[in-house]
Amino acid sequence: PEIRREDYAPFPWLIPATRLEFELGLETTRVTATLEIERNPDADRSPTIRLNGDGLSLVELHCDEEPCTGHMMDGDDLIVTLEGDNHVLRIVTEIDPGANSQLMGLYASNGMLCTQCEAEGFRRITFFPDRPDVLSVYTVRMDAPEEQFPVLLSNGNRTGTGKDKGGMHWAVWHDPWPKPSYLFALVAGDLVAREDCFTTMSGKDVDLAIWVRKDDLPRTAHAMESLKRSMTWDEETFGREYDLDVFNIVAVGDFNMGAMENKGLNVFNTKYVLADEETATDGDFDAIEGVIGHEYFHNWSGNRITCRDWFQLSLKEGFTVLRDQLFSQDMHSEAVKRIEDVRVLRSVQFPEDSGPLAHPIRPDSYREISNFYTSTIYNKGAEVIRMMRSMAGPERFRKGTDLYFERHDGEAATCEDFVRAIEEGAELDLDHFRLWYSQAGTPRVKVALTHEGDTASLALSQEVPPTPGQSEKRPMPIPLRIALFDRATGKSEGEELVMLDSAETTLRFDGFAEKPVLSINRGFTAPVRIEREIVREDLAFLARNDDDPFARSEAMQDLVVGHLLEAADGSPAEGASEAIAGALGEILKDDAIDDLMRGELMMLPGVTYLMDQVLLADPGRIFAAREALKADLGTRLEKELEALHERASAVPFSHDPEAKGARKVGTMALTYLAASDPQRAADLAAAQYDSADNMTDRQGALMVLSGIDSAARSDRLLDFYDRFEGNALVIDKWFSLQASSLHPDVIEHVKTLADHPDFTLRNPNRARSLYMAFTGTPQGFHAASGEGYRMIADLILELDPINAQTAARFVPALGRWRRIEEGRAALMREQLQRIADAPKLSRDTYEQVTRSLG
Ligand code: ARG
Ligand code: ZN
Repeated sequence: PEIRREDYAPFPWLIPATRLEFELGLETTRVTATLEIERNPDADRSPTIRLNGDGLSLVELHCDEEPCTGHMMDGDDLIVTLEGDNHVLRIVTEIDPGANSQLMGLYASNGMLCTQCEAEGFRRITFFPDRPDVLSVYTVRMDAPEEQFPVLLSNGNRTGTGKDKGGMHWAVWHDPWPKPSYLFALVAGDLVAREDCFTTMSGKDVDLAIWVRKDDLPRTAHAMESLKRSMTWDEETFGREYDLDVFNIVAVGDFNMGAMENKGLNVFNTKYVLADEETATDGDFDAIEGVIGHEYFHNWSGNRITCRDWFQLSLKEGFTVLRDQLFSQDMHSEAVKRIEDVRVLRSVQFPEDSGPLAHPIRPDSYREISNFYTSTIYNKGAEVIRMMRSMAGPERFRKGTDLYFERHDGEAATCEDFVRAIEEGAELDLDHFRLWYSQAGTPRVKVALTHEGDTASLALSQEVPPTPGQSEKRPMPIPLRIALFDRATGKSEGEELVMLDSAETTLRFDGFAEKPVLSINRGFTAPVRIEREIVREDLAFLARNDDDPFARSEAMQDLVVGHLLEAADGSPAEGASEAIAGALGEILKDDAIDDLMRGELMMLPGVTYLMDQVLLADPGRIFAAREALKADLGTRLEKELEALHERASAVPFSHDPEAKGARKVGTMALTYLAASDPQRAADLAAAQYDSADNMTDRQGALMVLSGIDSAARSDRLLDFYDRFEGNALVIDKWFSLQASSLHPDVIEHVKTLADHPDFTLRNPNRARSLYMAFTGTPQGFHAASGEGYRMIADLILELDPINAQTAARFVPALGRWRRIEEGRAALMREQLQRIADAPKLSRDTYEQVTRSLG
């Protein structure tokens, strides 16, 4: 059944207090839930209370200390008939965490017990109104064998602990802050902690702990530093202070997503906690900092203020992504972070927005909410709030968020509440802007600059493409930061923010004796596709002169995209690759930019992004054009690239931006040489691998080698495995590197790797390391034979009964069929149909497959 946003109604009951008692065991856990309930004065009176369940069997049910008789099951839910206004319900259930392969609810991971409740996992633990607008104060008691589970954690503060006979022990935790069930968490296991302390701005001490398995303890230092930086930053930037005496983070090896913001007890995928220079890349270090920040920031944007219903998911996720992006920008280079974030948006969210799964950042309906933890909700959601910030400016925006936090603290709020608070606090008219919440699809903005006399005229027009369920679109308000450059001096008079808030408009700029060069959507102020009428010379000019680093990289990208699409069409323009080589040559030697930025500017647009630029893409031809350009650039700039690699190799390891930048450009140089002179590149990569004293250089070298047939390739792959055998996160890299390789035989490699003794579908990181990586290969996944599509369909069918949420995440790759040339499109559809026809599909996969078929 479909759940619709417009059907929202408040829950008829309040649950001021919830007591949970767990008798913990890997195979059997007994849960006793005691709910104090009372009628909700703001809701319609109901003769019953509906308690959600998912696969639970009821052991006992008491109402006000008496065995309850007036109850029935409705599907998986328990319905209890109640007469008076106040009751105490006691519900006993028994669950088997060891058999929980879905990793939702209470489950076992490497001998420990942990939970994941967002969005609807709590109902796999006990019967409860498992919806985010029912807030309750939780007290949790855990009883467990001490030797097996020496550490017992839950939300809030620990209020008691003790030992019992028979080697049993117990702990009680109390969380004073009312919260929805999706923020509940429990962890029991043989864990050790890195401990630290943070003093908040008002002088309160908070005990911090990051809990991991003993061997992993040395790799938690970076996560702890990231946590402390996050806490300071949220105080300084948003005025938000932490509100409990303890903050715990636990790392678990089996986890469906990145991490979870449970109140006072964040649970993380090990991937976003563990790092040292030998086993984690610079990218891993940055991702850890970002995710630690993200989950910590949820304490205010998510926990203190939560969501009224799951249609409001972007209220907490979009805002929190924006907060983590701003945090990372402040910790490192603002420009580089912005370029990276826009790259993710364009390669993941734009295709989503132009495909069968397109939905507004505040959806109108869903079948399975897990399918809506999307790049649209998260990343486009962040862009929409970022636009408000750009229009208001940071100071006024802060006034808006202050008002939001103050006004809605302790509530389950809506996106509309957020917009209204920003509108009032920041003194911004967002009336028309609200369209960004309801309208899906990426607006296309056409841009043309003309010149007459001493006036430059900028003609802007927009079109929002139709998306499923939304055939008619209205024009959106689009804030665009622009600058006009003088051709002779290479300088601009400064920038301004212009608004395109109708279908079309023309803006005039006086005082230009000569036609200026337009730089538009600087800093990517709006998440739109810009279609600019601009000659190659002007793009090359901006690639050289634009003083907004984002816009500069944009010009370089457009130069390359224009050429690659023409080349893939079989009609490359005369002189295009010379122009690109010229611009790249300048980038290689420009002393005014640092290496981290140079690395960004050197990066060619990815195949997925390129495919998304055309109506019907031919992945084979796009891939071939891209490889040909790489080879051409590698040949033209061979000396400069080799020199760059040599300079980079001489920089000793450190986490400084200079050294990090050197590692980035060093490997980037190799990727070009790998296309122009594979044997030479293989030698250089093998040498880089052999002398590497850190994972960034080692993985970079192996990534280059994995695409080149050579003895060095197989040697180093073996060496890598032997060196890191037993380290799950690094072995994930080993699978990933091979599965995402440019090697022509990648399909065969993936098949062989699937039979490797270390491969399993039961661990989501491992499953993704092989197959998610593979879906990015144009010559593998998109092989013209359809073999790659069949492999992913097989995977989905095999994974679905084990872990539906993870299986469903592979469907969008096949869902791209409408935007791909017809031969491949038919093959993709065939596989989607085969999945749809399979018996007993999960709701997750069923929804994604049917939506994808259209
Ligand atoms: N709220 C978490 C985060 O973004 C994600 C949890 C998603 N869980 C899920 N089962 N879909 O930080
Ligand atoms: Zn989040």
